[in-house]
This record gives sequence, structure tokens and C-alpha cells, in this order.
Amino acid sequence: MDTPQSGIFALGTSSHAYLEFDLLDDGKRAQFAATIAAIREPRTTTGGVNFVIGFRPELWRKLLPDAAPEGLAGFNEPIRGTEGFAMPATQHDALVWLSGSAYDVVFDMAKSMVRDLAGLAALAQETSSWSYRHDRDLTGFIDGSENSTLMDAPADALLAEGVAGAGGSVLLLQKWKHDVSAWEALPVEQQEQVIGRTKADSVELQNKPEDSHVARTDQDAFGKIFRRNMPYGTVGDHGTMFVGFSTEQSRLSKMLESMAGLVNGKRDALTRYTEPLTGAYYFVPSVESLRRVR
Ligand code: HEM
Repeated sequence: MDTPQSGIFALGTSSHAYLEFDLLDDGKRAQFAATIAAIREPRTTTGGVNFVIGFRPELWRKLLPDAAPEGLAGFNEPIRGTEGFAMPATQHDALVWLSGSAYDVVFDMAKSMVRDLAGLAALAQETSSWSYRHDRDLTGFIDGSENSTLMDAPADALLAEGVAGAGGSVLLLQKWKHDVSAWEALPVEQQEQVIGRTKADSVELQNKPEDSHVARTDQDAFGKIFRRNMPYGTVGDHGTMFVGFSTEQSRLSKMLESMAGLVNGKRDALTRYTEPLTGAYYFVPSVESLRRVR
């Protein structure tokens, strides 16, 4: 039995940090991976921190080839959609996502990680996130309604027993900046047409437009994923950290293509009010695999 990293399913935390690292010297990749995998969380009952550790798929394959999912690749090329819309590729070598009940513990752990990795890796991207009105993203809509319950989410997110990488997960991390003034200028009824759900209570619209976000990412068409999106940013500059786990990379990549208008020519209306700033895939190995790189 392979054990997934528990942070994937650790709901209910309000403070988050996403640290993306670039390895400085490829010859030191084993030491780099061992240092990240050796992170020890504070084990207090009320003040603990959750971790999710992921590696660039190509790097992970070099580290532990027998535990690398077949065909998994980084976000190495931008996605060029219709009408000049594009999603950038900003792949890095590793991700550490920390979450906790308060930002001080997350901050202290993040700081010590960066210190431990000094000389081995550069901190390439850092985003801190916080929950907004319980389960809303900064569009004001409830985010995650169509997620499976925690009983079923492992089947959506984890590679099955018996395959290379079992107990691991494919993670897409994408930072989306919101065009706040354009979004807030829309009446609520129009915002609902963009998302495909009602704003107050997240009821799916009966006749949702084909370019609505929910229609463009329909899990009945692309397969189930498990989302842990979080708001990020300041009053003047904010958006959504898209954090999506899947058992198969193609579910995520097909959703992105669909949002970009490459599946049926209909670009996701949400992409007219939000802009992807980053895009990277990470393989989040099982706990047993992580132990092997230590
Ligand atoms: C600015 C970025 C994004 C925002 C604010 C956002 C927000 C939302 C909201 C409010 C919903 C409806 C409620 C729910 O079921 O959760 C939703 C649904 C969904 N989103 Fe997103 N989302 C974003 C990006 C993405 C991306 C990049 C993907 C895929 C790669 C994605 C995949 C999905 C899926 C699969 C659903 C459920 C669709 C279904 O009903 O089957 N989202 N999103």
C-alpha cells in the first residue's frame, strides 16, 4: 500500500505558501531532493504545518525512475489558444506547498526551508495565500463545489496501486491574476453566465452557456480532478492560485486546452477576466517514494 502525502487532502487551513525552486547544479539533484524530502513538520497538535512536496516530472524520473509515472511531462511549452490568448509555461524544479492554521508557522517553516536549500536551489516563485469567506475564491463564487468528498477524492487524485508512481499525484499549479475592475463591472447575472453557476449558493445553471467555465472544464467530459484553489494577493493585485490534482495528466491538460478554446473553438469566458501568470506540473510522490530519496 502506498501512502499519499496527507497535505493533499488536509482541508480547512487558512494560511498557505507555495514555494517553487530551481536547482542550481544538476550534479547536486540527489542532495537537493534529499534536503526537500527531509523537511520535518512541527508536530504540535494545534500549531502544525502540512506539506505537499512535488518535483518537476523530468527531474523525478532521473531521481527514481521506477517510481515515475509513464509519459508525465513538465509544463514545458506555452498553450496558445484562440484570439491570441496564451497560458505561459513557467516550469520549475520543485514545489513545496505549506499550509497551516496561521501564517506565522507557515512563514517560519518556509523561511527555514529556503535556508536549508541555500547553495542548492534558488527560490524562483513564492506566493502566499489565504482563505476568503470560508470557501470562496476572489471572484466571490464558491470554489470546489464539484470536488468529490474526501472518501472519493483519492480515486480522482492518486495514481492507482500497481502502476509506476502509485500513491502519487499529478499537480497543476497555475497562478491566475484577476482583472478586478472588469469583473466587478459585470452584473451578478452576467458573472453567473461566465462561471455557469449561481453566485450565492453555487447551483449549476440549467442552460449554462457553452463558453461558461463549468462547461469548458466539465468533468463528465474530461475526467475528475481534485481542486484545492486558494486566493492570493493584495487589494490592488490579486487572484486565484489554481491547485489541481489528478491521477492523469491528460485530464488537466485537456481542461487547459478547452479553456483556451482549442477543443471546440469556444474559449472559456473566465479567461476574459483572469490571466494566467504561471503554469507548472509537479509529480507529488507517495510518502514511501519520498523516503527513498532521503
Ligand atoms: C482564475 C482561475 C479559476 C477560477 C477563479 C476558478 C473558479 C471556479 C469556480 C467558481 C467553479 C465552480 C464551482 C466548483 O465546482 O468548484 C469552478 C469549477 C471548475 N473548475 Fe475552475 N477556476 C479557475 C481555473 C481553473 C482551471 C485552470 C481548471 C483546470 C485546469 C479548472 C477546473 C475546474 C473544474 C474541473 C471545475 C468543475 C467543473 C464541473 O462542474 O465538472 N478551473 N472553477
